[in-house]
Amino acid sequence: MPTTEQSQGLSRRSFLARVGVTGGAGAMFATMGALGLAPSAESATKVPFQPPQPSDFRLRGRGAAKVLILGGGVAGLAAAYELGKAGYDCTVLEARDRVGGRNLTMRGGDKLEEIDGATQRAKFSDGQYMNMGPARIAQWMTTMDYCRELGVPLEVFANANAEALIYNESAGMTAPVKWRTAKADVYGYISELLAKATDQGALDQQLSATDKERLLSFLSDFGAIGPKSSGYAYTGTGRRGYTVDPGAGDQAGTVLGPPPSLSQVLASGVGRSFSFELGYSQAMMMFQPVGGMDAIPRALAKAVGNGRIKTGAKVTKITNLPNGVEVQYVLNGKTKVAKADYAIATLPPHVMAKIPHNLGASVQAALEYPTVSSAGKLGIEYTRRWWELEDNIYGGITNTDLDISVMWYPSYGYHGKRGVLLAYYNSGRNAQTYDPLTHAQRLERALNAGAKIHGAKFKKDIAASLSIAWRRQPFIEGAWVNWPSRGAEYRLLNQPQGRVYFCGDWLSYEIAWMHGSFESARKVVTELHQRVLKS
Ligand code: ALA
Repeated sequence: MPTTEQSQGLSRRSFLARVGVTGGAGAMFATMGALGLAPSAESATKVPFQPPQPSDFRLRGRGAAKVLILGGGVAGLAAAYELGKAGYDCTVLEARDRVGGRNLTMRGGDKLEEIDGATQRAKFSDGQYMNMGPARIAQWMTTMDYCRELGVPLEVFANANAEALIYNESAGMTAPVKWRTAKADVYGYISELLAKATDQGALDQQLSATDKERLLSFLSDFGAIGPKSSGYAYTGTGRRGYTVDPGAGDQAGTVLGPPPSLSQVLASGVGRSFSFELGYSQAMMMFQPVGGMDAIPRALAKAVGNGRIKTGAKVTKITNLPNGVEVQYVLNGKTKVAKADYAIATLPPHVMAKIPHNLGASVQAALEYPTVSSAGKLGIEYTRRWWELEDNIYGGITNTDLDISVMWYPSYGYHGKRGVLLAYYNSGRNAQTYDPLTHAQRLERALNAGAKIHGAKFKKDIAASLSIAWRRQPFIEGAWVNWPSRGAEYRLLNQPQGRVYFCGDWLSYEIAWMHGSFESARKVVTELHQRVLKS
């Protein structure tokens, strides 16, 4: 087919040159982007979503259906909210005493109970809070759209901070290193090596003379390395930081240095931290609702209408009927039965797998298929923000190879008197170490780990602390799930089974993000609405 520019007698280069002449450099750059030759500033598109509307029924002379929504987490509330826009008669059954599910913010006075009955009471002071589950939102996520629509005010969540630290004990580090220093050294030495290899002709198979020139120019800037005459040597710069900061007059500052050797930098393993902030879901800027993440479920619940939400309602049986669904639940010790045209089940799969139903053996097997992950957090309220006062750390994350995994400095209340620092946020095997411990044991372990990084002050000026092991949270029993493969089981539960729809982050490609819950809710709402309009 004569569709490419070559077949039209136009090479790419001459085509671009023509665009450049007629449209200027901007037009040429945009055209290069369209041809896949230059980075494009275009955003990815979202899956289109049209909320159901009352007029959808008026035009067809039909009425909205009755829907039972099992689970009042973000997915369940979002489904009720969207269906409610068209007048669906939704009831949300939530087993816990508040909505939000894993979107849980704890403030002073709040109670946190674990499966075996161990109970903590949050003693945070006024204005302080801890996001126990979701705590950061990427700009591209649908969660941002709901915050806009529902009027949830946002502020920046500092997900990366050059002033925060990296500490790899297993690599023999005896003191932490600042992210900025680690990056300067790793980028510097990698640039030096690549520049040397390029200059010595080791990459001549891959690079033209012009490519080599451009690569060397990039490396000189990227790694802050010396000129060819120095052998492209990396010797450290102000990027590493200063022992005396630059000031007035003749105070140029004293650069921190000299850098450790290339071999020492590689052995420290600090470079393993860097790819985190390149992740699509983790890249700066990130955001959080002002005053706590639970502003999102609270705004959703308000929009749904509190009369439509039953908290403390524990689902005990799900029966698919030829023309509807029957759900048995226990509320205030009494067994009740609710009937509806459809149900949307948003409980975690491993929790739902324990509830009797008549949906068949393959549904049961699919519910049991995903593996459950542990995650835990421990927050400490200090009576002084020593990380700001003494270490110049304003938000961000310290990365370690200890079982605390990471430490988060609060992204709110800067320069305030107090602050809640996350002494750990771990998952997988690290979290499993903390899961069975009492809160006092978790705290002791976290304090010992934190003191390795921040010294004795980590154990002082503590006003309150609170920890969560998601594996031990009633009616949730895990942080998130993983699909060993997204095969038949995933596909089965992404389809309605009779009159029962399944919904949640676990049925999306963004598990453990509210984005996944919102997207799954939108998918189910769309499919259910289309079915109702056709029925
Ligand atoms: N979404 C979770 C996080 O941000 C896993 O850590």
